[in-house]
Amino acid sequence: MVIVGTGTYLPSKILTNYDLEKMVDTTDQWITERTGIKERRIANEKETPSEMGAEAALIALQNAGLTPEDLDLIIVATTTPDTIFPSTACYIQQKIGARTIPSFDIQAACSGFIYAFVLASHIVSSGSARYVLVVGAEKLSTIVDWTDRNTCVLFGDGAGAAIIAAGQDKNKRLSFNIGADGSHWQTLYIPAGGSKLPLTPQNIHHKLHYLHMVGKKVFKLAIDSMEQSLLRCLKNAGRSLEDIACIIPHQANLRIIEALSQRLHIPSEKFFVNMEKYGNTSSACIPIALHEAIISNRIKDGDIIVLVSFGAGITWGSVLFEY
Ligand code: ACO
Repeated sequence: MVIVGTGTYLPSKILTNYDLEKMVDTTDQWITERTGIKERRIANEKETPSEMGAEAALIALQNAGLTPEDLDLIIVATTTPDTIFPSTACYIQQKIGARTIPSFDIQAACSGFIYAFVLASHIVSSGSARYVLVVGAEKLSTIVDWTDRNTCVLFGDGAGAAIIAAGQDKNKRLSFNIGADGSHWQTLYIPAGGSKLPLTPQNIHHKLHYLHMVGKKVFKLAIDSMEQSLLRCLKNAGRSLEDIACIIPHQANLRIIEALSQRLHIPSEKFFVNMEKYGNTSSACIPIALHEAIISNRIKDGDIIVLVSFGAGITWGSVLFEY
């Protein structure tokens, strides 16, 4: 498995902590100290997840020296699809001008990109596809209650993409650990908008179409699940923590990453962090960070890289590979 190209798309509109001070009862100091986030990007009406995902995909293809016709499969991770159906992957297929290849979405909340990445790597390793486009694209600004200071300071919009190929070296297999524990579904969810509780004026009036979160519980679950997943992934790979050159974690809260660093005795410099610029973009966090780590030479050929995430469900996932 090799990553042959990556790309991102970030909306140009920046919403700073100072802007949020004018919207809800909060301060730049509180948000910075409690989360590590300074600003986030907000998509406009035209910047749908498929639009942002397609732009990120075209950059990834260009960096890979490929054209859309070279793709054999498109997998999109998103919790904010353009529409419930068709899938955002189908819109992206049309927008980038790919062939009539299989295209579908994966829903594992913030762990979605890792779930999709694992699937893509197995498909290329089996020989069923040569090039798989994996996209994480989110427009979380549409599911956030902008009057709720507990949640609105955390999230942002954006997209990231990676092209996965089989690679020559069969030893460069990816190790992974993915999992879920549905018993915690109530810690982070959107009550209405699905078939269980359809969108009605009454449900909208009660703000049931917005993200609901028990922040403290999610915080603890995040640290526990990422720690366990990372350790299991290392064990599967037969590697030790010292072998890792760079960890790209889900960008939800700097204190979650600091706790992980302390628990596992991993120097904080090994974690790639960019949440100060974008906040939590759910399934787009990791591909955006991966692209930035690659173009800033934070990741070099032969480095052992770990991606690790957690999300609503709850879900978690880690992958380890040699870049
Ligand atoms: N500004 C000022 N004060 C605030 C704000 C804010 N933006 N938000 C909350 N507060 C207040 C609270 O009301 C509370 O006040 P009170 O003591 O008078 O009740 C106080 O600050 C402390 O609140 P806590 O909830 O205890 O703050 P905590 O340190 O837990 O931080 C946070 C809250 C940032 C939400 C944290 O719990 C967290 O990051 N949790 C994880 C969230 C997360 O990662 N979600 C995404 C999951 S991934 C996915 O799938 C989308």
